[in-house]
Amino acid sequence: MPDKIMDSNSLNSNLVQQAELPTHIKFTQSLSCSIEGSLSDSTAQSLTLGQLLNLSDEKSEWLNNLELSYASLIGGVKLRKKIVKFHQKLNHHQSSLNENNVLTFCGAQEALASIYQCLLVPDDEIIVVTPNYPSLVTMAEKRGCIVKKIELTTHNKWQLNIEDFSNLITDKTKLIVLNSPHNPTGAIINSDLADQILSLAKAHDCYLLADDVSQASNYNNLSLSHRFLDYDKAIVVSVMSKSFGLAGIRLGWAVSKSEELLSQLLAVKSVSSICCSAIDEAAAEVALIHCNRIINKNNQLIKTNIELFQAFVDSHPDLLHWHPPEAGILALVEVKNIESIEVWAKDLAYKAGILVLPATLFGLSGNYFRLGLGKNNLKYLLTKFSAFLKS
Ligand SMILES: Cc1ncc(COP(=O)(O)O)c(C=O)c1O
Repeated sequence: MPDKIMDSNSLNSNLVQQAELPTHIKFTQSLSCSIEGSLSDSTAQSLTLGQLLNLSDEKSEWLNNLELSYASLIGGVKLRKKIVKFHQKLNHHQSSLNENNVLTFCGAQEALASIYQCLLVPDDEIIVVTPNYPSLVTMAEKRGCIVKKIELTTHNKWQLNIEDFSNLITDKTKLIVLNSPHNPTGAIINSDLADQILSLAKAHDCYLLADDVSQASNYNNLSLSHRFLDYDKAIVVSVMSKSFGLAGIRLGWAVSKSEELLSQLLAVKSVSSICCSAIDEAAAEVALIHCNRIINKNNQLIKTNIELFQAFVDSHPDLLHWHPPEAGILALVEVKNIESIEVWAKDLAYKAGILVLPATLFGLSGNYFRLGLGKNNLKYLLTKFSAFLKS
């Protein structure tokens, strides 16, 4: 999260274009109280640099020997090979992908912004799911696209089906955006639905973007693999921050079969970040080598936290309701008998020092907040939360 900066609305500037903070960041920045912890964090438990180094046989050797020059523009070869291996383990695409199918970015957000910039022009149609990670919608709106939204509802536990997509798709659809496990509902796209969506995208010759930032948080061993990367017009995005919990390593990537798209993305990156940090690339390589240990540990904690929160909901049946996620780090929690989730969330922040993000910030009306299940301070925060609920 960025430190506090002045609200752009309070600046009397001559800037040509007014950029706006994403809704969830704006809400957090608007709180002028001290926050002890967040119940809405979208990342798994982080490691210290020392803990990450200790996973590696060479310990800190790689760090000592790291040359602090510019990193490769496209991302280091060894790193990109490990990224391919990571996706091949999670998915079952038949294409033999290699490092040339990968481009690194400074986080998933830079990858997503570059993809939108390369693909979308005014009046293009795009299909997205709502509620959502806000920039997936706002970046398309800013580009003058027609945004068609699939609305998830609590009645069917936020789940998607193929009709949601087939009802909206037309021959003008340029891009379908998927995010599974989904921020903020925890909904998943299983392998069968993924195949159906892929066929639909192919039939309409449109691009398919899979924002897979928490795909590896699959603690119930569900069938979440897909074969999107067999399709020339598919792009998969992932990152160090979510399932790995390593948001301090600002490293994300895009994977695609399309050489043309990758070269366009490279051109965009070369006038934004130019290249990623050499330190981040090296640390990401270590994390990918040890991805099983890091992710298994994180997934065990998420499972424990789901049980913990289920017990918490059971002990507050008149106040809270939720559908536990089957995968991923996030879920929505309904707060009963309150007037406004935003007023309630501010009250919680000011009185108990706990941050929760109302689901209105992600495009969902009703009294829901986003719950993050990745962190090891959940038990502690729930004792404070419980005291607030009783007050
Ligand atoms: C669904 C989704 N995609 C992409 C991102 C961006 O990830 P990063 O901030 O690590 O670049 C986020 C971050 O919250 C997210 O939730």
